[in-house]
Amino acid sequence: MTKKRIAILTGGGDAPGLNAVIYTVVRACHSMMDCDVIGYKFGYRGLYTNDWMLLDRHTTSGILHKGGSILYNSNKDNLFNYTITENGVTVQKDVSDIAIENMKRTGVYALVVLGGDGTLTSARDFARKGVNVIGVPKTIDNDLSSTEISFGFDTAVNIVTDNIGKLHTTAESHHRVLVVEVMGRSAGWICLHAGIAGSADVILIPEIPYSLQGIADKVNERKAIGKNFTIVAVTEGARCKEGNVSVGRRVEGSPDAIRFGGVAQKLAHQLESLVENEVRHCVLGHIQRGGDTSAYDRVLSARYGVKAAEMIRDGHFGTMVTLRDNTMGYVKLEEVVGSGNMGETSVGGARTVDPNGEMVRVAKAMGISFADE
Ligand code: F6P
Repeated sequence: MTKKRIAILTGGGDAPGLNAVIYTVVRACHSMMDCDVIGYKFGYRGLYTNDWMLLDRHTTSGILHKGGSILYNSNKDNLFNYTITENGVTVQKDVSDIAIENMKRTGVYALVVLGGDGTLTSARDFARKGVNVIGVPKTIDNDLSSTEISFGFDTAVNIVTDNIGKLHTTAESHHRVLVVEVMGRSAGWICLHAGIAGSADVILIPEIPYSLQGIADKVNERKAIGKNFTIVAVTEGARCKEGNVSVGRRVEGSPDAIRFGGVAQKLAHQLESLVENEVRHCVLGHIQRGGDTSAYDRVLSARYGVKAAEMIRDGHFGTMVTLRDNTMGYVKLEEVVGSGNMGETSVGGARTVDPNGEMVRVAKAMGISFADE
């Protein structure tokens, strides 16, 4: 029998745990099959440009704990609608057949795609064209309905929790209100979990529109008991009851071009006229996706990686690995992608926070305000 060649790519934005999945897929595939493993660089762009590297014990040594991806990331390279320059003119073209030809020439038997909705939609489309694809869902936002918890989320929550803790000491010293802006797009999971763990006084999430007066009431309530500072954690996609979300920029060519940003600055400015304290803001930004992967996410990524290898061994292609009821499983890519409502992060539709669910009730019972009254 000839040696199988398995390829991996990491599409969309990075998330802590990508390297741990790569590390595990390489080792699990080697132990389960007579194969070699390669990695395409910059997501799908590498398939088009045929830019790949060998992934073996040496090239993947020491990466398990590291955030980012040794294969690099790109969230703009949809090969079914790819931007190229022809005779000096920029045009969009379906170049997927070139990618398939490249894979054939390189002898790729199966392709493992790590990404969100945009990346996995393309994975489905390659599966429709006969490529043996396995998807692995990733996002720090944890808003994927087809899987219980995605790798990267725990790391992001730890980073945000740690930083909320740091803001407490400086806020207390200056008697300030500090508004900290957290990632998550239209899902409040990171903010909710880190807000609870980091003892935020106010948590603002997209699922529960807030009122400025509600935040001011909490600041004053704290002042009345001698607490002259307040920490407000706000999800980037949150909005005031009367207002709109704050859009930071557009990234053309990305499956969902909108990037949220600016809510904390806007809110801090508006709040200052309602409270006596000085109000400052802080945007954690990409720090939330950086550095080392948490122990929990390393283990979770390893589970996803081994399951992906088992799927290749067993020939279950056109599928995505999942975690449900703490058990690894899989669903068909046809069933989980292309719901089209949230771009990169909406594998199987976005799983958002239930305003009446347990986590919100826990936070409220702890005295945390959502500024919704
Ligand atoms: O979906 C993950 C995420 O980190 C979001 O929380 C955030 O809004 C977005 O990606 C940022 O994307 P980019 O790195 O392209 O600015």
